[in-house]
Amino acid sequence: MATTHTNTSFRFDIAVIDDQHQHLIDLLDRLGGLVDGQVPEILEVLDALRRYTVEHFSFEEQLMRDHGFPEYESHRHEHEVFEAYVKHLYRRIELGKAVLRQDVQSFLKVWLTRHIQGSDRKYAEYFRQRGVVL
Ligand SMILES: [Fe+2]
Ligand SMILES: [Fe+2]
Repeated sequence: MATTHTNTSFRFDIAVIDDQHQHLIDLLDRLGGLVDGQVPEILEVLDALRRYTVEHFSFEEQLMRDHGFPEYESHRHEHEVFEAYVKHLYRRIELGKAVLRQDVQSFLKVWLTRHIQGSDRKYAEYFRQRGVVL
């Protein structure tokens, strides 16, 4: 699967955030290469995704709180739903109750790209307007 390094619509010119988003996209691209692959490898990447989403979302939420972002609560809710979905997916695959299908991998990627381009872009704009330097 092609990577999205050159897709500038994911980037806000906030290096610390852009790098974290790129890492998440890279994990999803890795997952895309494992559809129908070995379960241990899928679990390894899903576990990395699970951990890194928690880390990245916490980082964003702290920034939003620090700078009084008005849509903090709804943004946090989006994070919680995604975190719960990844956790649930991991558990189902671990228990052998699900396999990683192409549509599931696509869903994860679509959710993440929409979240970055929609919700994350809003706080990036808010920070920019307020002159927040990260
Ligand atoms: Fe984000
Ligand atoms: Fe976010």
